[in-house]
Formats: sequence, structure tokens, C-alpha cells
Amino acid sequence: MTHHVRAVVVTTLLVAAPGPAPGDEAGVARCGSAKVAAMARACGDLLAAEARFLRTADGAARDRRIDTARARVVAAWTAAEAEAGDARCAADTATAGAAVDRLAAAVAAARAATPPECGRTLVRLWRRSCRTVVATEGAALRAPGDTASERATTLARLRRRMDRRWPAPGCASGIGADEAVPIVLRLASGAAADATTRGMRTVAAEAGRAIGAAIEPDEVAADPAYAPALAHDSGSVTAENAMKWGPIHPEPDRWVFGPADAVVALAEAQGQRVRGHTLVWGAMQLPAYVQNAATADALRGYMRDHIAGLVGRYAGRIAQWDVVNEPLPGILDPPTSDGLDDNVFRRLLGPGYVAEALQHARAADPAARLYLNENGIEAPGPRQDRFYALVQELLAAGAPLDGVGFQAHVGLIPPGQYPDRAVIEASLRRFADLGLEVELTELDVTLVFRPGDLPARLAQQGDDYRAMVEACMAVAACRGITTWGLSDRYTWLRSFFGFDDWPLPFGDAWERKPAYFGMRAALLLHLLETA
Ligand code: G3I
Repeated sequence: MTHHVRAVVVTTLLVAAPGPAPGDEAGVARCGSAKVAAMARACGDLLAAEARFLRTADGAARDRRIDTARARVVAAWTAAEAEAGDARCAADTATAGAAVDRLAAAVAAARAATPPECGRTLVRLWRRSCRTVVATEGAALRAPGDTASERATTLARLRRRMDRRWPAPGCASGIGADEAVPIVLRLASGAAADATTRGMRTVAAEAGRAIGAAIEPDEVAADPAYAPALAHDSGSVTAENAMKWGPIHPEPDRWVFGPADAVVALAEAQGQRVRGHTLVWGAMQLPAYVQNAATADALRGYMRDHIAGLVGRYAGRIAQWDVVNEPLPGILDPPTSDGLDDNVFRRLLGPGYVAEALQHARAADPAARLYLNENGIEAPGPRQDRFYALVQELLAAGAPLDGVGFQAHVGLIPPGQYPDRAVIEASLRRFADLGLEVELTELDVTLVFRPGDLPARLAQQGDDYRAMVEACMAVAACRGITTWGLSDRYTWLRSFFGFDDWPLPFGDAWERKPAYFGMRAALLLHLLETA
């Protein structure tokens, strides 16, 4: 089957891919709302068990209460799912047991973080607050329009209550209301994230951000579960390979637009933003005529025509372009004299090729946001400094640069590095302070360098994803988060490295993993914190 015919088939299949059945939405939202209500109650129950434990130190009694709370949630969720009769009500949430276990662990961690003499007071205060805050997500499901005002009212009331009750007797030295509120918001957002049926796409959009995934059109067309998951949880798509120079423009006078057209058509059918990836990448998937360009003039002409042809074709339909990808040497490559990747563009056109590419892109589509995309810059160090210097040079030269993409292949580049929220946030803020947009453009979290059994590694991965999304949400200029794939089934880490790995939010059977709920919890926390 030729490239073109396959692309037409893929496009037809994609655009016709079944979305959520109309009219069931209300049933799913009602089911989600019932699940949220059960988790709101569970938060109160688990905090009550904790308060009693602080008084009696009877761990067995606490465990019995946790079991009772879990049984209540299991019963309520089972009833809600039966009533809805729609598979999405189960698929869109965690399992009841996992949700309660995660909440119980979070409650114990919150209590452990409080000064002993304050524990009981705090836990009692949190008990009521957690219920009301979790319940705001139920309101969001029932009346999407009033969500923000409902949340703001609830949070204002919570802060007033905390302020009225602080400092509590015996807790003078303890934590203050300013610390007590964030802890209950963290508990509540975790509980709500496990129970709600609202997709990450919807929650992110409410926060004015985009959340999305990189896709291969063939894989979406061949897997009936793929397009619905994208439609529910992704407000943005990136072509994982279809728009790279080699596949899309293999010869100077031959273009293969089919797969890229398919990606854009799907996104438009599902109302998603498109990130274009990538116009100039010296390291991989370059066609021979570019790799073997003999002169600077020849290469300059190829680059101008390529960018004009590709950006021009999708002008007004692609929101952002990774104009130059990975201008620095690979993390394991030998250093170069000027700290830039030793590729044909650098060799024939000099370091100015980056600014030139940006100018060509701006000329081809003045509306598209233009990004420089790099890996291994998520934590401070010489690599981030070299990239920062390159960005400063471009801005000082007046190059049309709008944003910076942090690829965020967490745990892989560099190997074994899992930066925490504060580190990521500081890195994003450093570039945002240059007046630029920033995005996490290729997020995945490898388990290869994480110790422990798989369930423990997956749970840790949930925290890693939560930290990444929280860091982005804390920086206003961080406009979006894209995972490099959606389901482990299609991850490049298996095909490219042959890793046994589970780096993405969805598992091989499209089950939502702790990573998924960590991301959703971070989005919900942001909505609560900014209410
Ligand atoms: O399409 C050909 C197919 O016709 C051929 O039969 C097959 C066997 O060789 O290769 C296929 O091309 C592969 C392509 O993926 C599509 O599957 C290339 O060999 C393979 O190198 C390419 O890997 C991609 C890699 O970039 C290199 O471009 C990965 O899927 C993709 O996930 C990865 O993504 C990069 C970002 O673009 C930039 N940042 C790092 C990230 C991970 O490396």
C-alpha cells in the first residue's frame, strides 16, 4: 500500500473514529459526581480515623476504620457504575480500592508532617474542609458553568474557618493557616482526581492550559481505543514522526503529506491544538539530499524551501512549531567547540542557522508560535546554561523566538535523573523570565532506573508526573504539557531502546495508571489553589 493510499485510509479511519456516544455524557457525569461524593465522605472518614488514632494510638482500630471507609467507597462506586451502565464511568476513574489506599496514604503523610501537639486539631479541621473541597469537583461535573465561583466560595470559606481557628490551643508553635490550607487542598485534589470522570483535557482547559500527546496516525487508526482516549484527555496533539524532514520531504521535489494531514485532520475533528514537530533537526531522520548538501547555498535553499513548504501548507492550522530541535549535542555526545550540536546545518551555515530557521518560519506563518526544543535541560547545570545562553543570544539578535520546549524525558536524559517539583519549576521560571512561553513537550517517565517492584515504581511514577505537572502549573508562562505518546503500548522507549518500560499515563490495555491520576490531581490542585 503506497504511502499516499495508506495516508488517505488512515485519515478516513481517523476522522470517522468513534467519539463518546452522544447523550451518555450526563449519565457519566452523574456517575462521576456520585463517585466524587463517596470520596469526599471517605476523606472525612479517614481523617476521623486519624484523629481517633492520635487520641488512642490504636492502629488496629484505625485500620478497621480504613477498611470500613474503603467498603463504603467500593459499594458507592459499584452502585454508581451500575446505575450509569456506561463503561466510561469505570474507565475514567481509578479503582475504588486504589483511590482509598492512595488517600489513606496521603492522610497519614499529612498527619505525619504536622507537629505532634497539633495533629489532632489539624486533622479535625481538615476533616470537614476536605469533604467540602472534594465536593467542588462534584459540582464541576453537575454544573460545569458555575465551577469557578463554587470553588472560590468554598475556598474563601475554608480560609476564613482556618483563620478563625488559628492558632489552635496547644499549637502556637505549629504550622499556620497558610500551611494548613495547602495540605487539605493536596488531599482533596488527589481524592477528586481519582474519582472524577472529567478528562485531563477539560480540567487543563479550565486552567487555561493545554494537555496533550504525541501520536503516530497509523497507530491511532489501527486501535479503536486510541481516538476516544485522545478525545477525552488530550487537547493538543504532536506528530511523533510524520512531520519530520525525512518522512515528509524525502526529496527536494517530493513531499509525503499524507500522515501529517491525517494528524491535523484528526486534531481538527476532535477540536485539538496541533504542535508541529520539527522543522530542523540535525541529528535524526534527515533525508540524504540534506545530509549530503555540498554547499552552504544549497543547504540554505533547502532549509528555506522546506520551512516555507511545510509551515505554509499548515498556516493557521498548527499553533506552535518546534523550529529547531536539539541544537545542543546529545547528552552522551562529545562536547563541541561552541557547545552546539555538530550537524550539517552547524557545519555549513554556522550557529546562525537557528535564527535563520526562525525567520523562515515566521515569514511562512506569522501566527504560529515558534519554539526551540531541547532535552536534558530540566535541571540546572552546564547544559541548561549553554541552552540559556543560546536563547539569550537569539533574543538579543531579535530572532523571532516565542517559546522554549523542555522535552522532559524524565529519568532517561540524563540517565537516572528524576528532578523534583522545585527544580523543574525553577528551570521553567528561568526561561519564562526572559519573556518566553515554556512547555513540557515530550514528557515521559522511564521506570528503568527506578528501584523496587513494579507497583511501587508505578506509584512513584504517579508522584513524578504529579510533580512535573504541578511545576508547570505554578509557572503562568507554562502553556502546555505534552506526553510523548499516551499508552505504554506505543512508547518509543520500547521500539527505540528495546526497554521493558511503562513510561506513560495509560497502560498497555489503556488502563489509567497512577501517572494519569497524578497528572489530573496536579491540574485540580492548581484550580483549587488559584480559586
Ligand atoms: O517509518 C520507518 C519504517 O518505514 C521502517 O520500516 C522502520 C524500520 O527502520 O523505521 C521507521 O522509521 C522509524 C520512525 O521512528 C517511525 O517509527 C525510525 O527508524 C526511528 O528512528 C524513529 O524513531 C523516532 C525517533 O524520534 C527518531 O526520529 C521515535 O519514534 C520518536 O519517538 C523519537 O522522538 C524524539 C523526538 O522527535 C525528539 N526528542 C527525542 C524523541 C525521542 O528520541
